Amino acid sequence: IKRIALLTSGGDAPGMNAAIRAVVLTAAACRIEVIGFEHGYIGLLEQEYRTLLPQHVHNIIQRGGTILKSARCPALQTPEGPKLAADNLQQLNIDALIVIGGDGSFRGALEIARYYDGQIIGVPGTIDNDVDGTTNTIGYATAIDTALDAIDKIRDTADAFERIFLVELMGRHSGYISLAAGIAGGAEQIICPEFSQITPKDLRQITTPIQHAQLLMGKASYIIVVAENSYPGGTTALAEALTKAIGIECRACILGHIQRGGSPVGADRILATKLGAYAVEALQQGAHLQMAGEVHGEVTLYPLAKTGDRTKAIDPYLVRWQQQVGSY
Ligand code: F6P
Repeated sequence: IKRIALLTSGGDAPGMNAAIRAVVLTAAACRIEVIGFEHGYIGLLEQEYRTLLPQHVHNIIQRGGTILKSARCPALQTPEGPKLAADNLQQLNIDALIVIGGDGSFRGALEIARYYDGQIIGVPGTIDNDVDGTTNTIGYATAIDTALDAIDKIRDTADAFERIFLVELMGRHSGYISLAAGIAGGAEQIICPEFSQITPKDLRQITTPIQHAQLLMGKASYIIVVAENSYPGGTTALAEALTKAIGIECRACILGHIQRGGSPVGADRILATKLGAYAVEALQQGAHLQMAGEVHGEVTLYPLAKTGDRTKAIDPYLVRWQQQVGSY
């Protein structure tokens, strides 16, 4: 391998810069050239790229976002998109492409692979942690801490006003961030797509534990962490429905994109460094259509085509425990 291309795609995640740095430094040590496409697959389709040398990745390991920028790219989903991407890679003499992103970005990579002769490898970068083949994705640990900081602060005002707060966290259609931040923030309830059945017609899963808690403990504050997309109409609608159902004021706080930003925590910097370096090594050993992941502390390759299968369990022990203590 002489020339690698690199891009970051989809929702940015803290630690993407650390992964870029690891790829560039590892490649330099192996005498491999690196170019970076800007704005995810858009840069690949529009040939917007730059050479990445070790001096370009100096002083970025601690920075959130991505120096290569990121984007979602509808053009890649058109019938012509993947072929154009592959043609551009061939034309630029790229022997291998590294995609840092989530499973949507990996699906794009698989489409390109239908027309491209070189190798492709993925590195899991998303706050959502909804990628199979790796225990944690890059950015997940930082997002948990960011959400946790917010939950702790909301707890103060909820306590002062004796209010019920619903805190909506990101995760697309998964509840990894919500379960982790909810547990660490001592949330009274956690609502996630994986284990919650809440409909406008049936709010009992939420209201029954609230009523028990009020009776048993006379709680001053009550925090319900809600993973986005858990309720039709959103978390604000859920707060209004709950207020009506129980006659106690419920407020919604949608945390939103704050969770995507910030300096990556140590765990994300280390994971990103490991997986970025491993991606380059694996390519040299011939890896193709694989994702570089980490399971039980060991780097491992996982088929790119299976990363979106959603077979990675959300911690069953914590789910059980949360449901067991939900009335206290
Ligand atoms: O995948 C990361 C993520 O932040 C999800 O948690 C969220 O659902 C989505 O991206 C938001 O995407 P956008 O910033 O494009 O609205």
